[in-house]
Amino acid sequence: MISRRSALQAIGFGLSASGSCLSPLILAQSTQAELQPLNIPSLNNGVLSSGTNNFELRLQRGNHSFLAGLNTETLGINGGYLGPTLRFKRNDKVSLQVKNSIGEASTLHWHGFHLPATEDGGPHQEIAANQIWNPSFDVVQFAGTYWYHSHVMHRAGEQVYKGLAGMIIVDDEEQKVDLPSDYGVDDIPLIIQDRRFDSNGSFIYMNRYEDQVMGMMGDTILVNGTNNPVFTPATRFVRLRLLNASNARSYNLGFSDNREFYQIGTDGGLLNEPVAMTRLQLAVAERAEILLEFDPGEETTLINVALPSGFPEFPGAMSEMMRALNTQGFDILRFRAGQQLAENIALPGRLNEIYRLPEAAATNTREFRLSMGAGMRSGDDRGPGRGSRNGRGGGFGGGNFSINGRRMAESYINERIVFNTTEIWELKNTSPMMHPFHVHNGQFQLLDRNGNPPPANEMGWKDTVKVNPGEVVRIIMRFTDFRDENNPYMYHCHILEHEDRGMMGQFLIV
Ligand code: C2O
Ligand code: CU
Ligand code: CU
Repeated sequence: MISRRSALQAIGFGLSASGSCLSPLILAQSTQAELQPLNIPSLNNGVLSSGTNNFELRLQRGNHSFLAGLNTETLGINGGYLGPTLRFKRNDKVSLQVKNSIGEASTLHWHGFHLPATEDGGPHQEIAANQIWNPSFDVVQFAGTYWYHSHVMHRAGEQVYKGLAGMIIVDDEEQKVDLPSDYGVDDIPLIIQDRRFDSNGSFIYMNRYEDQVMGMMGDTILVNGTNNPVFTPATRFVRLRLLNASNARSYNLGFSDNREFYQIGTDGGLLNEPVAMTRLQLAVAERAEILLEFDPGEETTLINVALPSGFPEFPGAMSEMMRALNTQGFDILRFRAGQQLAENIALPGRLNEIYRLPEAAATNTREFRLSMGAGMRSGDDRGPGRGSRNGRGGGFGGGNFSINGRRMAESYINERIVFNTTEIWELKNTSPMMHPFHVHNGQFQLLDRNGNPPPANEMGWKDTVKVNPGEVVRIIMRFTDFRDENNPYMYHCHILEHEDRGMMGQFLIV
């Protein structure tokens, strides 16, 4: 029998002196707790001046009360926790003034957007403390749900955890489909996150050994910053814009009455038609728009449905951790429909006509091996120098998270892609846990999972894709419009603690 310690070491995790407690993290059940009305982030439509839509954003320190009677120190954008929902119009030009008042370096990344690398807000567009960054770009995205968040090198996890994230909604006036679109009434942003608090109400970040491996998961679920939230629908149909803005946790969503719902949108826009489903897996950074139908007075709860432990057998401790994380169900958001519901829309039929990128258009295929543990070629990279940044990383040296055997180094360009070409990227997960793979600079399409066609709800535009243990996922993407020999885009695992520890690479479009 393999001990936990040696099992972890076998896959490359040296244990720090302080930590090897692998007790499962049990989520607090909210049944007794008092329900709080769901907070709706304020909407910021920008200020139009001479053809450009201007947004002012200030990264700031603040406070927020998540738990009754307790105060939590947070980071926020124009507020105490999280940021306003930014509303962009397709084909508009936007200009953002981002002021960093948090007292340490940060960035703001426009996740899912096709834009010049210099405007992307990745690790290279660092905003020093007290500085202002002023990116601008044309919104070429399809109508859909996007987001923005800190992407500062090595500390994105901590900054997002404390609150540096928000939603972006892109509208398209030419879109003809009739969908619920009254923000906060029948068009509802749902930013789902998990957090861990100490008894004083302060955020806890990375205090357990497994946080280093699995990424930071919490035992308290927040939706738009609300703990134990309840929402009261006032219309027959409600559109939920689901954004998994957690650091590491994936959700297997469903409803307490097992009702059917319809997925209408993916990361980068509307699907061709509504997809009826009862379960929706949403990995970190993925978005899904769904339609829900209510009868007057009806109640239901958005829940995480426990997954049977279908993980491949792997040396003891890993499987144990995976099971503990995925075999638990919990409540996310209660719905209590009003006694009178406005008839807002009819369930739409056709939503979109998505152009499928033909496989034959690809002129190159690249492989990306996602791995944890040993296997990094020595001398590739000194690594980001983890050491004791979180006070617990003492034994955490040496290439634990890598892509193609390398860890992110800001000075190293991993891939050079020829401008105006289409490529197939073959994502191979050789590790025992799922990694949500994200590519900057726009949207791609899934070709297949282990050679099988993707499910109907993954047939839309995507910028983040789950790659399950042992799986090979092929995606296809175009590299157009922004050629730049000097400024790279990122690709990475969106489990922020994996990204912060080097599971990221850079590409130039040349
Ligand atoms: Cu959501 Cu590289 O980011
Ligand atoms: Cu991104
Ligand atoms: Cu990962």
